[in-house]
Amino acid sequence: MSKLKVAVIGAGFMGKTHVENLRRLGFVEVAAVAGITQDEADRFAAAHYIPRATGNYKELLADPEIVGVHVCTPNALHAPVAKDALTAGKHVLCEKPLAMSAKEAKEMLDLAEKKKLCHATNHNLRYYPAVQQARAMIANGDLGEIRVVQGTYSQDWLLYDTDFNWRILRKHNGPLRVMGDIGSHWMDMIQHVTGLSITALCADLKIIHKTRKQPKVAIETFAGKTLTPEDYNEVKIDTEDFGMAMLHLGDNCRGAYTVSQVSAGCKNRFEWLIAGSKASISWNQEKPDELWIGERNVPNRLLLKDGSLYYPKAASYADYPGGHSEGYDDAHKQLYKRFWSRVMDRSLPIEYPTFADGLRGMQLLEAVIESNKKKAWVKCAPAKGKK
Ligand SMILES: NC(=O)c1ccc[n+]([C@@H]2O[C@H](COP(=O)([O-])OP(=O)(O)OC[C@H]3O[C@@H](n4cnc5c(N)ncnc54)[C@H](O)[C@@H]3O)[C@@H](O)[C@H]2O)c1
Repeated sequence: MSKLKVAVIGAGFMGKTHVENLRRLGFVEVAAVAGITQDEADRFAAAHYIPRATGNYKELLADPEIVGVHVCTPNALHAPVAKDALTAGKHVLCEKPLAMSAKEAKEMLDLAEKKKLCHATNHNLRYYPAVQQARAMIANGDLGEIRVVQGTYSQDWLLYDTDFNWRILRKHNGPLRVMGDIGSHWMDMIQHVTGLSITALCADLKIIHKTRKQPKVAIETFAGKTLTPEDYNEVKIDTEDFGMAMLHLGDNCRGAYTVSQVSAGCKNRFEWLIAGSKASISWNQEKPDELWIGERNVPNRLLLKDGSLYYPKAASYADYPGGHSEGYDDAHKQLYKRFWSRVMDRSLPIEYPTFADGLRGMQLLEAVIESNKKKAWVKCAPAKGKK
């Protein structure tokens, strides 16, 4: 059987991650890459042995052999690129946050449905095996009624005012930075794992660096370069470095989380604790194979990733034996595997986040904006079919 030919649009941190993990599937070929310029695409293609490179993604959309694309560009380009790809009849897996607004996300979803094409939002972090085990435990009632969720997603790569990236600027990123960039993952995952919808929230955002030193040349995400004065311009900042939100989920659950890109020592500290009427569980992305299980009357325990000890649904996300770590890249692979398998066989269930999930994420982010502006609670309609 011939491989599915797929193009990756965006030649940065995510472009590389998508290429590497697409190749692990075996049944997908990375046929082409598009960058912001021909030169960027050529360099990326040479480094990753990709046969075709272009500075104009539209050229790839005109190729009938390419069945779909991964959109790995800055956020402002997700909607225009994805809509062009859908219009050209390509399946689309798009990075998060799905769009710059709920309106844009809805247009993407409507177009994908109209064209009957497969669509996914890359909330890959759902697919760590331990996260899927937590989800299966909750679905099985092991925790009892879910009452409290708590957590954070904290990073330090924008700690100094000399740290800069396209995400700092609204025009490339959208109106929310830390909330959109990593808060979107936190809200998506807590709903995915608990099965509950966020029904109301009260948010507060803080710009810690009122100005930052913007390099005169672009710097790749997480590059960690130290700038000297002749390298930068001082610019006013209008996106938040820190955010927090209190939440209502479902009928009875309450919670709160913080997000930060200025917390020294936190690299990708994405963690949550979910407390039910019988037991609690907690997970931290920086130790992805460990699931902490807490009970009142017996000793707490640490469940190390081991598919043979997991519920069957979760076990299918653990491709390696217990004790062999499965991390960030594996979570990407699990999502792509399910997405592209479904492109090949439309009778398979949808076991990945779609544009509907991306739209839901954008609606929640708009609730965050409204709440922060009004300094008040904002109601959020539950996700379709959810409490
Ligand atoms: N799911 C995750 O875990 C995760 C992690 C990081 C980033 N992301 C998302 O991935 C996206 C990209 O982030 P990144 O960290 O890779 O950024 P990056 O800056 O490292 O890479 C972005 C790339 O897009 C290219 N680009 C810009 N305009 C383009 C155009 N018109 N055509 C083709 N390429 C163009 C840039 O030149 C650059 O190569 C963002 O939406 C971000 O939110 C997701």
